[in-house]
Amino acid sequence: MHKTISLVAGLILTHPGVSVSAQVAPAPNGIEFPADYADWRVISISHRIDNKTMRVILGNDIAINAARNGHTMPWPNGAVLGKVVWKQMSEKSWPDAIAPEKFVHAEFMFKDTDKYASTAGWGYARWKGPKLKAYGNNATFATECVSCHTPVKDNDYVFTKPAPMYTMPK
Ligand code: HEC
Repeated sequence: MHKTISLVAGLILTHPGVSVSAQVAPAPNGIEFPADYADWRVISISHRIDNKTMRVILGNDIAINAARNGHTMPWPNGAVLGKVVWKQMSEKSWPDAIAPEKFVHAEFMFKDTDKYASTAGWGYARWKGPKLKAYGNNATFATECVSCHTPVKDNDYVFTKPAPMYTMPK
């Protein structure tokens, strides 16, 4: 009995997908950490060759439905896009391949044209490192996000194009 309890506690403490939102501070603009992001589905991936990082771009259910049905111009309110970044390492068992290693950060764009009107319809937030430290000293940190995303304003401020995924024809 005791053994089972400590085993379960151990799993809760060490499992990488465990929810930690209760201990994660919100971003300086008040956006809460989306604790379930590790269960979201994939929109695309990218690899930055200059700083050797690998990324996965994820979406919540509303974003995934929009992405799979081509309804991303604009993305619907309620859609949340996530980007998780890792340092790359070379795969020891297959040196021609690279794979993600150290977690750098997870960052998000929350679509709500009214709530986030001051940042062009998206609420921005980033949490850094395994301790998920909220990024930014005050709410103005998001101007940095918006200005770098402005070159793609004609694509609703989103860089990522959903990667094609093929399944059985309906
Ligand atoms: C130096 C430019 C730059 C800055 C600053 C920047 N981004 Fe991005 N962001 C990008 C690029 C380029 C992509 C495309 C995907 C990639 O990086 O591989 C991207 C992608 C994203 C995505 C996935 C959706 C998309 O647009 O493709 C999210 C979410 C995101 N960024 C959030 C943020 C947040 C939050 C901040 C501010 C804390 C921020 N970004 C600041 C350049 C930037």
